[in-house]
Amino acid sequence: MPSLRLLLPVLTAGSVALASQDAFHNKCTSFADKINLPHVRVNFVNYIPGGTNLSLTDYPTSCGRSSQSVTEDVCRIAMAVATSNSSELTLEAWFPRKYNGRFLSTGNGGISGCIQYYDLAYTSGLGFATVGANNGHNGTSGEPFHHQPEVLEDFVHRSVHTGVVIGKQLTELFYEEGFNKSYYLGCSTGGRQGFKSVQEYPNDFDGVVAGAPAINMLNLLSWSAHFYPITGPPSSDTYLSPDLWNVTHREIVRQCDGIDGAEDGIIEDPSLCYPTLERIICKPGQNSTDCLTGKQAKTVHEVLSPLYGVNGTLLFPRMQPGSEVMAAAIMYSGRPFEYSTEWYRYVVFGDPSWDGTNFTVRDAALSLQQNPFNIQTWEADISAFRKAGGKLLTYHGLQDQLISSENSKLYYAQVAETMNMPPDELDGFYRFFQISGMAHCSGGDGAYGIGNQLTTYNGADPENNVLMAMVQWVEKGIAPETIRGAKFTDGPGTPVEYTRKHCRYPRRNVYKGPGNYTDEAAWQCV
Ligand SMILES: *[C@@H]1O[C@H](CO)[C@@H](O)[C@H](O)[C@H]1NC(C)=O
Ligand SMILES: *[C@@H]1O[C@H](CO)[C@@H](O)[C@H](O)[C@H]1NC(C)=O
Ligand SMILES: *[C@@H]1O[C@H](CO)[C@@H](O)[C@H](O)[C@H]1NC(C)=O
Ligand SMILES: *[C@@H]1O[C@H](CO)[C@@H](O)[C@H](O)[C@H]1NC(C)=O
Ligand SMILES: *[C@@H]1O[C@H](CO)[C@@H](O)[C@H](O)[C@H]1NC(C)=O
Ligand SMILES: *[C@@H]1O[C@H](CO)[C@@H](O)[C@H](O)[C@H]1NC(C)=O
Ligand SMILES: *[C@@H]1O[C@H](CO)[C@@H](O)[C@H](O)[C@H]1NC(C)=O
Ligand SMILES: *[C@@H]1O[C@H](CO)[C@@H](O)[C@H](O)[C@H]1NC(C)=O
Ligand SMILES: *[C@@H]1O[C@H](CO)[C@@H](O)[C@H](O)[C@H]1NC(C)=O
Repeated sequence: MPSLRLLLPVLTAGSVALASQDAFHNKCTSFADKINLPHVRVNFVNYIPGGTNLSLTDYPTSCGRSSQSVTEDVCRIAMAVATSNSSELTLEAWFPRKYNGRFLSTGNGGISGCIQYYDLAYTSGLGFATVGANNGHNGTSGEPFHHQPEVLEDFVHRSVHTGVVIGKQLTELFYEEGFNKSYYLGCSTGGRQGFKSVQEYPNDFDGVVAGAPAINMLNLLSWSAHFYPITGPPSSDTYLSPDLWNVTHREIVRQCDGIDGAEDGIIEDPSLCYPTLERIICKPGQNSTDCLTGKQAKTVHEVLSPLYGVNGTLLFPRMQPGSEVMAAAIMYSGRPFEYSTEWYRYVVFGDPSWDGTNFTVRDAALSLQQNPFNIQTWEADISAFRKAGGKLLTYHGLQDQLISSENSKLYYAQVAETMNMPPDELDGFYRFFQISGMAHCSGGDGAYGIGNQLTTYNGADPENNVLMAMVQWVEKGIAPETIRGAKFTDGPGTPVEYTRKHCRYPRRNVYKGPGNYTDEAAWQCV
């Protein structure tokens, strides 16, 4: 048996460490008793030490993950918040021990009711007092919207705003020093939620980072629905297999890659790319695995054309060329796009048997006419946000396979026209970065590592990280001129192969040399 004397110093050292841990830990575990807010019911408060692989026991299966790794010590507060007598949010706040004095709200994706735990872990790991909600329903289906306008209203705008109002109060209750600035970080539907805040709740955030935004939302859902009628099912002669989309992609890259001056497999400005698709129509006797039939070439032509409505109005711009490989598996899969089908099924028609196979632009007109709670998120006068001192940083992947980046340009033009402001003026509060080689929010063939989420993280330096660039803009007045992206050799977390600085719109990236295209100094924003 070891002597007590030998054990004592160890115990003392241990209890000192424990005591310092306990101040935060105790504050956390006793925090539930301090929360007394209307409509808020605390489910549980847990202390989570950094290094935990958190098991997400209550997470809906359709949300697609069962665990979340947590890097820093946080206090996790899980709540139910009634938003009406027939709707409620599940809201979580993650308060880090290493707190940077800033509040942040995360967003959601698709039509989902999934708390984005990976964003809570990412941003609390960077020191933000962070909140995230389930958007008013659980799981990825649109069925909870069926005859439930209150649930729909949560999804459209009430979930994030409510989470912010409560989250800010909790932050002040938890940290004696309160918080100084408030931020938003989201992509896709999360991007739409960011724009919704800018448009409707101009005082919620000092800085909004909203990527690949699902704005012009109803027309986006119609556009996503219109691919199936173009491709038909896999048995149809208008359909292209994923192999043929790869063939098409290679031809598009062959024709357009050099426009930016560098043949690196990345199209820097797809809006300059108008491929001549007739070139890949099969010659008599040519192997049909290397070329398209006339009907298939027409399919490609149609998916690369804008969608117009019943009276000829532009509903949604074309899919951007360069996104074919990833779009093949989802938009051109020979099945109606699931989110669109669910939206039409449960919201537009309230008919669970509607299946998306016979979608037409007449349906799009009806959908637009309904516009519940203004889910369009397309208001172009954002002067209230500007007046409140807010900053908006938006980015869009130029290989986005789900939301064409041309939609973000359309919105930019609309704001410029509505507010009578040229780009130099808009730059004062609204900056848009085009990220070449980035797919939908992450992934892609190029330098997509911009730190908009953990899977694109390449350090917290503001030059390499859109969120920290926003913090620097808000707190030091230093606005980002470019956003550096990292090209990972083999996906997230692998070594960086090269970096490239992405330009703010309406500038575009041009290779000037003399170095290799992998040298960021060889590129210029023009
Ligand atoms: C966390 O645990 C789950 C099983 O619960 C496992 O599948 C996953 O790989 C673990 N993650 C890490 C980072 O250890
Ligand atoms: C529920 O209804 C009652 C009575 O109409 C109202 O006072 C209360 O505020 C409602 N609750 C919510 C969360 O809206
Ligand atoms: C807020 O800013 C002031 C002034 O820079 C600073 O002293 C204070 O610590 C900040 N508060 C927090 C919570 O970071
Ligand atoms: C969502 O799931 C949570 C956790 O299981 C549950 O407490 C909550 O009531 C659910 N919310 C809705 C709207 O069904
Ligand atoms: C298409 O090309 C990508 C790489 O560009 C490859 O990963 C994928 O397997 C190819 N798909 C098919 C069906 O050949
Ligand atoms: C067509 O190409 C495929 C794949 O490259 C090959 O397997 C097949 O033998 C070719 N057929 C002819 C007739 O050349
Ligand atoms: C869709 O249209 C096809 C052909 O016009 C028709 O045969 C089919 O019944 C329609 N399906 C639905 C669900 O209306
Ligand atoms: C044309 O359609 C658009 C979108 O559906 C609608 O906003 C507009 O009012 C329509 N214009 C006319 C003249 O019908
Ligand atoms: C540029 O870099 C790429 C990737 O490292 C390499 O494959 C290529 O040969 C280089 N080109 C020149 C001209 O050095």
